[in-house]
Amino acid sequence: MIKKKIIIGNWKMNPLTLKEAEKLYGEVAAGVSRTKNTDIVICPPFLYLEKLTKIRTSKIKLGAQDAFAGDVGAFTGEVSSEMLYEIGARYVMLGHSEKRTLGESNIDVNKKLKGALASGLHPVLCVGETVRDENHGYFSLVKMQLEECLKGISKSSLSKIIIAYEPVWAISSTQNRKDATADDSREMAIFIRKILSDKFGKEAQSVKIIYGGSVNERDAEDFLSNGGVDGLLPGRASLDAKKFAKIVEICETLSR
Ligand code: 13P
Repeated sequence: MIKKKIIIGNWKMNPLTLKEAEKLYGEVAAGVSRTKNTDIVICPPFLYLEKLTKIRTSKIKLGAQDAFAGDVGAFTGEVSSEMLYEIGARYVMLGHSEKRTLGESNIDVNKKLKGALASGLHPVLCVGETVRDENHGYFSLVKMQLEECLKGISKSSLSKIIIAYEPVWAISSTQNRKDATADDSREMAIFIRKILSDKFGKEAQSVKIIYGGSVNERDAEDFLSNGGVDGLLPGRASLDAKKFAKIVEICETLSR
C-alpha cells in the first residue's frame, strides 16, 4: 500500500508572540508552496490556531497539540476536539511525552483519541520510551501504550490515525539526550506495525507510522529512507522555516 508521506511540525510552546507565529507560518507556507506529494501539518499553540487559518496556503493543514474529549461542558481550562475542528484544525497530537510527564495516562489519551475521531480530527498518537534498558523492556512499554490508547477503536477509524514514535531519550529537550538512529526507528516501526496487525488485522496497514526525536534537515533523508516510517515529526527544526521546508523537500524528492 503506497501511503502519502507526512511531515508534522510541533511548535510546542513557541513562539512567544502572535506576530512571530504569523511570520513563521507565512515563511513556512512560502517555503513549501511547490509541494505536491507530501502532507504537511503545523501544530502551533492553541492560541494561534485560529489566526493562522487566515493565512492562505493550500499546502498546510493545522493541528493542535492536545484536545479534551467531548464537545462543551464544565471542564475548566480545557479545549475540546469539536472546538478545534470548528475553528479549522484537522489534526491533533495526543499523548505527547511532554504531556505524559505532567501526568497524562494511557486512559486519558484513549478518551481524547475517541473524542478526536468523533469530531473529525486526525489523531497523532505519540508513543515512546523514556530510556532504553538492556532487557528491551521498552518494547513492552510501547506495546502497552498502543494497546491502552487504542482500546475500543474500530478498524474503520484506523486510516485516520497516525502513530508517532518518539523515543524520549532522543528528543531535543531531554537532558543528556542521545541521537536515535534510523535503525532504532525501523526496529520500532516494525514492532508497532506488528502490534497493530495482531490487533486489527490487515487494516493496520493503513495506519501511518512516523518518527520524531531531534529530526533535522541533515538526518531526515536517513530516517525517511531507512527508518521504516511514513513521515516525520520535527519539533525544534520546525521553528526554523528554512530547515522545515528543507525536510519537506527531502521527503518530496524521495516520494517522486
Ligand atoms: P525535537 O525535534 O525538538 O526533538 O522534538 C521532537 C518532538 O517532541 C516532536 O513532537
